[in-house]
Amino acid sequence: MKTTSSHGLHHLHTASLCTPYLLLVPLGLLALLLALPSLGSSHARSQGLGVLCRGAAGTDGGGGYHSVAPTGADEKKASVVADADAETPPRPQPDLSLLVGVLTMPSRRERRDIVRMAYALQPPASAARVDVRFVFCNVTDPVDAALVAVEARRHGDIVVLDCAENMNDGKTHAYLSNVPRLFASSPYDYVMKTDDDTYLRVAALVEELRGKPRHDVYLGYGFPVGDDPMPFMHGMGYVVSWDVARWVSTNQDILRHNDTHGPEDLLLGKWLNIGGRGKNRYDLKPRMYDLNWFMDNFRPDTIAVHLLKDNRRWAATFKYFNVTAGINLSHLP
Ligand SMILES: *[C@@H]1O[C@H](CO)[C@@H](O)[C@H](O)[C@H]1NC(C)=O
Ligand SMILES: *[C@@H]1O[C@H](CO)[C@@H](O)[C@H](O)[C@H]1NC(C)=O
Ligand SMILES: *[C@@H]1O[C@H](CO)[C@@H](O)[C@H](O)[C@H]1NC(C)=O
Ligand SMILES: *[C@@H]1O[C@H](CO)[C@@H](O)[C@H](O)[C@H]1NC(C)=O
Repeated sequence: MKTTSSHGLHHLHTASLCTPYLLLVPLGLLALLLALPSLGSSHARSQGLGVLCRGAAGTDGGGGYHSVAPTGADEKKASVVADADAETPPRPQPDLSLLVGVLTMPSRRERRDIVRMAYALQPPASAARVDVRFVFCNVTDPVDAALVAVEARRHGDIVVLDCAENMNDGKTHAYLSNVPRLFASSPYDYVMKTDDDTYLRVAALVEELRGKPRHDVYLGYGFPVGDDPMPFMHGMGYVVSWDVARWVSTNQDILRHNDTHGPEDLLLGKWLNIGGRGKNRYDLKPRMYDLNWFMDNFRPDTIAVHLLKDNRRWAATFKYFNVTAGINLSHLP
């Protein structure tokens, strides 16, 4: 199985989240961790690596710092991929709104098409405004730029951030800290970050969110470390409430301490733990999970299934969730 993403690292990093577990960390990794700049405010810093654990004291970020500016951000409001806006006329007033950002790269065009269809073919979530956007950093290659421009014009679901394309070098920070400004005119209750190897079942997620608070929320696949069931949420997909995204966007400490380099999901948990944010925390295991090697651990109540790293695994997913049911290719004219 390919492990081109960061996710393969999780098992290594898990052990390093809390100070006592440092003993378990392989030496090379320990060196890497110690090389990371210390973080947070002075009293957070005094806890050393312990700040990775939950319960660290709160430090409020200062106001208004923005590291990045949108460039060719194509955030046309036209297309609402996961929302069946065009359908039945009298829709209930949305009582919940969710922005789903799928972090991807320009070159992954084929995957993006599959993911786009995966969202488009889902039943709409009722009484919810859900928008799906594909999120890039600067598109520097001229061929990529042309093709992405065409794709953006056709689908209107592309967001380009001012950052250099990367997986674990600040893209999530750029995303969360740009969203509050990019979508300031119509804020969402919740902001999600997910990847292009995750199949997200939007309606199931929305039902899960419906009864939750709209503030100070951090929800996903909780990654347990020691006694803490969820010091951070796995990068396959997590949700923060709008106020948490805004807090990230205004927290100057994160950038001052250059604390955006490393596993993006672990880092978000770390920022929130240091800042005392995201206290309404929800673990959606086992309804979020990795698809195993044999592709036989699908479950009917799935919210998200991850590690869909090739077409075969996407095909199995579509088949299991009956997306392909009733489509008889050999019958087509
Ligand atoms: C992204 O592109 C913009 C405009 O082309 C440029 O000003 C900016 O420096 C670039 N940012 C990065 C991080 O490469
Ligand atoms: C931030 O950290 C990265 C990775 O550790 C390093 O390459 C970079 O030079 C640092 N930048 C600053 C401004 O310290
Ligand atoms: C797919 O369809 C079959 C047959 O109707 C049904 O038994 C099954 O529960 C469906 N699977 C899911 C995940 O909805
Ligand atoms: C699909 O079409 C083929 C060829 O016409 C036919 O033999 C088959 O029974 C059809 N399958 C279903 C499930 O309708």
